[in-house]
Amino acid sequence: MRMVDIIARKRDGEELNRDEIEYFIKGYVAGEVPDYQAAAWCMAVFCRGMTPEETTHLTEAMAFSGATLDLHDVAPFIVDKHSSGGVGDKTTLVVGPMVASLGVPVGKMSGRGLSFSGGTLDKLDSIPGFHSDLSIEQFKRQLRDVGLVVAGQTHELAPADGKLYALRDVIAAVQSLPLIASSIMSKKIAAGADAIVLDVKVGRGAFMETLEEATRLAELMVQIGRRLGRKMTALIGDMSQPLGYAAGNALEVIEAISTLHGHGPADFREHCLDVAAEMLLISGAAADPEHGRGMAATALDNGSAWAKFQQFVAAQGGDVTAIEDPDRLPHAPFVEPLRAPRAGYVAQVDAREVGHAVVDLGGGRAAKGDPIDPAVGVVLAEHGKVGAQVEAGEPLLWVHGRTRESLYAALTRLADAYRFSADPVAPPLVYQVMR
Ligand code: URA
Repeated sequence: MRMVDIIARKRDGEELNRDEIEYFIKGYVAGEVPDYQAAAWCMAVFCRGMTPEETTHLTEAMAFSGATLDLHDVAPFIVDKHSSGGVGDKTTLVVGPMVASLGVPVGKMSGRGLSFSGGTLDKLDSIPGFHSDLSIEQFKRQLRDVGLVVAGQTHELAPADGKLYALRDVIAAVQSLPLIASSIMSKKIAAGADAIVLDVKVGRGAFMETLEEATRLAELMVQIGRRLGRKMTALIGDMSQPLGYAAGNALEVIEAISTLHGHGPADFREHCLDVAAEMLLISGAAADPEHGRGMAATALDNGSAWAKFQQFVAAQGGDVTAIEDPDRLPHAPFVEPLRAPRAGYVAQVDAREVGHAVVDLGGGRAAKGDPIDPAVGVVLAEHGKVGAQVEAGEPLLWVHGRTRESLYAALTRLADAYRFSADPVAPPLVYQVMR
């Protein structure tokens, strides 16, 4: 078999078989297939797509490209959640501790920022000392002792996804249904969860812009997970505007901390309760979604989710004093508001533009391996969200920048992200749940 022929077949829209897909994945992980051929192959998939069978083969090849975890010696039933990517999506930081504090172990393998979408690991890295490069032994020990662990792709677990994820980010091949489905599901399968709740996002700030595409992605991932023996639920939620107020790594950690203290933006809190309820339901801890929401709300309001977050951060080497006093988290030197150009109702905050603004500020990567500035980002005002009534000159958001130049460039970009109307618009949080 030759890689060039496999690329050519995909370029010409042919269906690859299991052997060809395995050949590529094994060769790429072993360093025998170079990045340029992998990039060409990803672009061919991006343009030509894959059948559900090819996507399943790809997921399996990626999931088994390294070790896979069997966690049953440390916990009888492990639940995981995964977002398909979005702007301001810090859900894991709140939902993980909530669910774990209710006695349901959460073992999670997360990703880094991808294109305009943030990544949980980059957010957690803004906590001084925090590390996510855990060995399998460390992952298991923490799952047993703390009940919550968030790790990145290692060379041990799903290494193919680690390599492909970083490559796709810098060759404009992120928004591909088979590549997203296989990336997410391979991580989930390798990390050994028994049940997976997928948080599929739709809208300008998501990789799937239409409800139809998001539904196809959700169905495909549910199908792959079930085929591989996992219990699956998928929620499809709105990502036309950023989730909550903050987009940017440390800024999102600060918002998650506020939410764990029972405050935080209403849309974000509601979303966390929905996801947590599904995780509690699928693991059998809750009898129905309402029961799950009630349990999750109690964990937020009585401080047990916050206590679990502290325990989790400490276990992964993070400086707990920095989360107890978020003033000690990284802060950008320059902060300026974007003011409403006129009075009216906010009709649109283009989440993709917000995501790109964060990347341009230095909060995301322009090239593979670029360092991230944890401090920069955007924080929407309460009346900077869709549906809010705003007076001319009122701040819609604040940009946190490392330099004045990058800050003013972001303000210009973000001015175009807003649309106003005479009538309020209320976007739904969750479009549907597939149980
Ligand atoms: N999240 C992932 O883990 N992978 C993708 O490709 C997109 C979102």
